[in-house]
Amino acid sequence: MVSVTVLGSSGGIGQPLSLLLKLDPHVSSLRLYDLKLSHGNATDLSHIDTNSTSEGFNTAEIGQALKGAQLVIIPAGIPRKPGMSRDDLFKINAKIIKSLTVQIAEHAPDARILVISNPVNSLVPIVYETLQSMGKFQAGKVMGITTLDIIRSHTFLVDIIGRKAYSVEKLKDAVTVVGGHSGETIIPIFTDQKFYRRLRDSNVYESYVHRVQFGGDEVVKAKDGSGSATLSMAWAGYTFAKKLLNSLHLNTAGDQHPIPTFVYLPGLPGGKELQKKLNTSVEFFSAPVKLEKGIVVAVEHEWVDKLNDDEKKLIAKCLPILEKNIKKGLAFSKQTK
Ligand code: NAD
Ligand code: LMR
Repeated sequence: MVSVTVLGSSGGIGQPLSLLLKLDPHVSSLRLYDLKLSHGNATDLSHIDTNSTSEGFNTAEIGQALKGAQLVIIPAGIPRKPGMSRDDLFKINAKIIKSLTVQIAEHAPDARILVISNPVNSLVPIVYETLQSMGKFQAGKVMGITTLDIIRSHTFLVDIIGRKAYSVEKLKDAVTVVGGHSGETIIPIFTDQKFYRRLRDSNVYESYVHRVQFGGDEVVKAKDGSGSATLSMAWAGYTFAKKLLNSLHLNTAGDQHPIPTFVYLPGLPGGKELQKKLNTSVEFFSAPVKLEKGIVVAVEHEWVDKLNDDEKKLIAKCLPILEKNIKKGLAFSKQTK
C-alpha cells in the first residue's frame, strides 16, 4: 500500500487528480498540500468509501504532508492564459518547484517525484539540479509527466480515422509521443506505420502533428483566460501514476509495457545509448521507459531505428529547443543556490 502526497492539490488539476487517487486501491494514504483549501478538500474526500485515508496540510505543515511519502505528484504552479507560452510560466513556477523540491529532499528523500507543473522541459532539470546539489538525486525516481500528449495523440488519431472504424482502445498501440512537453518538442511517432501512411496519403499528417504539438492551446483558448487543461490532465496524471502504482505491486519483472516520461538520460540504463542514437548531448528527454517497483529501470532506444523520415525531421527540430529549455532550468537552479 502506497502513501501519496499531492503538492498543489487544490488547483484545477490537483482536485480531480486527488479524487482519482482516492479511488485507487493501491493508495493507502493520500495527503493533500496547497496554499489554500487542502484541509477542506481532504475532509471532503475522506467521506468517500474507499480504503485510503485523506488528510490536508497547510503551508506550515509541509513536513507532515511529505514525511515518508513514497510518491509525490506536483501540479503546483500557475497555468497559461491565451497568448502565453509555457515558457512564460517559468519565472513563477521555477521558484515554486525549487522550494518544493528542497522540502521533498528533506522530508521524503526516497519518494518518486512526478512533475506536472509547466514548463516541464525546464522544471524537471530544476528538480534534478536541486536534488543533485543536496546529494539526493535518484535518476529512476524523477519523472516529468508528458502523458497528456500521448493521450491526445490517440484521441486526435481516432478523430481522423473515425470511431466506427477503430476504437481509441485499438489505436493506443499505433502512436506514442517522445521529446518534451511544449510545441515543437512534442513528437508523435507511429509504432504502426499503417496509420502513418494513411495520414500521409490523405494529406492530413502535418495537421495531425500540429494538433498533437499544440493541443494545449485548444484548451487554453476555449477556457478563455481561466486556465489550461485540468480534467484531461488529471486523467493523464492518474494514468501515469496508476502505471507506476501497478508496477510497485508486481513482484516479478514489473509492467513491461513501456510508457514515455521525461527523464534524466545519463543516469539510467539505456539513456546514453538513446543519446548516441539521437546524436545529441541533450540530457533530458521523454522516451518510453520500463517501470519496476515504481522506478524507471530502463530507457528504450530501439524505437529510434524505426523512425520514418518525417519523424527524424521532427526530432531534429525538437532537440535544439529542448536543449535551450533544459539549460534555462539548470542555470536558474545553479544561480539560486
Ligand atoms: P491552478 O492554478 O488551478 O492550480 C495550481 C495550484 O497550485 C493552486 O491551487 C495553487 O494554490 C497551488 N500552488 C501554487 N503555489 C504553490 C506552492 N508553493 N505550494 C503548493 N501549492 C501551490 O493550475 P492548474 O490548472 O492546476 O495547473 C497547474 C500546473 O500544471 C500549471 O503550471 C500548468 O501549466 C501545468 N499543466 C501541466 C500539464 C502537463 O501536461 N504536464 C498539463 C496541464 C497543466
Ligand atoms: C497542456 O498541454 O495542456 C498543458 O501543458 C497546459 C498548457 O499550458 O497547454
